Amino acid sequence: MIARIIGALVLVGLFCYWFTFHSGFIPYAHNPMQYMPNMHRAVALKPERASPITASGSSALVPPVGSVARTANPYPYSRETAAADVPAKANPLPKTREVLMRGKKMYETHCIVCHGPSGMGDGTVVGPFPKPPLLVSDKLINFADSQIFHVITRGQNTMYPYGHKVRVEDRWAIIHYVRALQLAYNPSAEDMSSFKEMVGKPQETK
Ligand code: HEC
Repeated sequence: MIARIIGALVLVGLFCYWFTFHSGFIPYAHNPMQYMPNMHRAVALKPERASPITASGSSALVPPVGSVARTANPYPYSRETAAADVPAKANPLPKTREVLMRGKKMYETHCIVCHGPSGMGDGTVVGPFPKPPLLVSDKLINFADSQIFHVITRGQNTMYPYGHKVRVEDRWAIIHYVRALQLAYNPSAEDMSSFKEMVGKPQETK
């Protein structure tokens, strides 16, 4: 008699265990009923094995060309470094018409709202936003290209960093354009005579 009762209890117990965890009728239990499991049962790649789904046929993948580790910092100076302390380096981009036009486009996309169309600090947000210093000042004319690059990349005081918004080549292109603004602000006699020569000639169009 006792043996039968114990036997029955064990059976009921096993049933309850199966019903709860394996029948699928109780949601969120170990093995719930899966309506449209979609990607629940993804095929996991096993390390160091062949894989039918990768192009190389191996589960060991190499990072795509040009990948940068999340923790890598390809630009070595932080915001705490003052622009004047950054080693002087010249602009690596050639000063071509294409580069200048790219610089103009990027300047007018990212910088013009504060620094204004000719670098005078008269952009449209100035008023509520503090007026930035001239980009055509003697200070910046004497700054190395790499020091202006530093200000754009890391920001300076109230100026927000633009390193994450403006690509490296575009930053260098902007610097060529800022140099052009500086020349336009303070042209040499030579610049003026070549300008006079140019005026009157048909405009080069692209
Ligand atoms: C939101 C407004 C704003 C934008 C956009 C902005 N700047 Fe600035 N910028 C400032 C302010 C304000 C300062 C002055 C920061 C300070 O007090 O040192 C400044 C400073 C600078 C300086 C240093 C000037 C100096 O005399 O020390 C440079 C160079 C510069 N900006 C270039 C740029 C370039 C290039 C862009 C576009 C990629 C840009 N800025 C975008 C507001 C802005």
